[in-house]
Amino acid sequence: MRDFLIAGNWKMNGSNATNDVLVSNIVDGIPNGEGFKLLVCPPFPYLISIASQVSNSAISLGAQNVSEHESGAFTGETSAAMLKELGCEYVIVGHSERRAIFGETSEQVAAKYIAAQKAGITPILCVGETLEEREAGATEEVVIGQLDAILDAAGVDSFASAVIAYEPVWAIGTGVTATPGQAQDVHRRIRMRLVKHNSDLADSIQILYGGSMKGENASGLLAMPDIDGGLIGGASLKADDFLAIAAAAAVAGQKS
Ligand code: PGA
Repeated sequence: MRDFLIAGNWKMNGSNATNDVLVSNIVDGIPNGEGFKLLVCPPFPYLISIASQVSNSAISLGAQNVSEHESGAFTGETSAAMLKELGCEYVIVGHSERRAIFGETSEQVAAKYIAAQKAGITPILCVGETLEEREAGATEEVVIGQLDAILDAAGVDSFASAVIAYEPVWAIGTGVTATPGQAQDVHRRIRMRLVKHNSDLADSIQILYGGSMKGENASGLLAMPDIDGGLIGGASLKADDFLAIAAAAAVAGQKS
């Protein structure tokens, strides 16, 4: 059985005042039901205060990035052990904004993934193709290539404590969502790639969809057999929008 994970990626948004309202509204509105988990990933400076705000709730805490290094002279970086100490259970690695804007390579993403796991944090590995790559028929090659970089560096067993997020770059922040069928097709290919290595593990890993997910399209996406939740940007910044997606997961129940 796979639970749903509904994860909010706040990106570089928020303030003490807005976060406070957002988190307390989410805590107050968590839908009844089982088989789903909520996660918020605020910017680094707010992790401590939000950790205490969610500490007695069903909401988990995650970070948006992590250094691949353990400690030392890496000005501006944050280690996985530090995130663990602040109460982070998850960290996003390989988000397309990090790959495209900050030039992170698949090797670096793999090193971050390994560093997170070493500190006891579950990496949420993002993979996804650009519009040009999709139009050139290269979706599978790109997505599986990004997955294989992690399989090569960390091994298949590492996926026992990881989450994958399929995020087509053309759907991120654009308002254009992959159709349930388009997303399911890629999710299936990702799971089948893991089946080749370890079928039990492939069955149990959560594969989230990300890219303009919102209350109106969540039910259709979450109904797909290989979509186990969402990594949500824009719609995670408003409690009602985030809770509408959580409600869709609560209604959909677990995946067998
Ligand atoms: P979006 O972002 O929901 O605003 O499209 C998703 C993401 O980048 O994780």
